[in-house]
Amino acid sequence: MTACDRPGAGRESPAHGERCLGPVEEIPDGGSRGYPPPPGGFTGLFAVRRGEAVFVYVNSCPHVGLPLEIQPHRFLDRAGELIVCAAHGARFRPEDGYCVSGPCTGDALEAVTTRIEAGMIWVPEKAGI
Ligand code: FES
Repeated sequence: MTACDRPGAGRESPAHGERCLGPVEEIPDGGSRGYPPPPGGFTGLFAVRRGEAVFVYVNSCPHVGLPLEIQPHRFLDRAGELIVCAAHGARFRPEDGYCVSGPCTGDALEAVTTRIEAGMIWVPEKAGI
């Protein structure tokens, strides 16, 4: 049983075509967390939390499409201010995914529409595929 399957977690009434990533509380405030691809997919997602706000992106750098994290769930710089791509050092704003420095400056991460219900994070079922 995953956190999304717990009674009262919201799994009972998901909007059509969504999947649950898990509880917001699973992401440390000011931190990040990675999520595997959906069944049959190959590109995962990741999230950055700022208080009650959760920003979810496809885990694919706009430079050459590599996953960003340097270690599992570690997507942020040491200060926790910017998302960093481990491959070539591109840096992105957590709030909108805009690349502020590196080989893809001016590009942006692919943002994922996110819905929070009863403390659980829901995204479109096919996001990240
Ligand atoms: S793949 Fe991310 S900066 Fe090159």
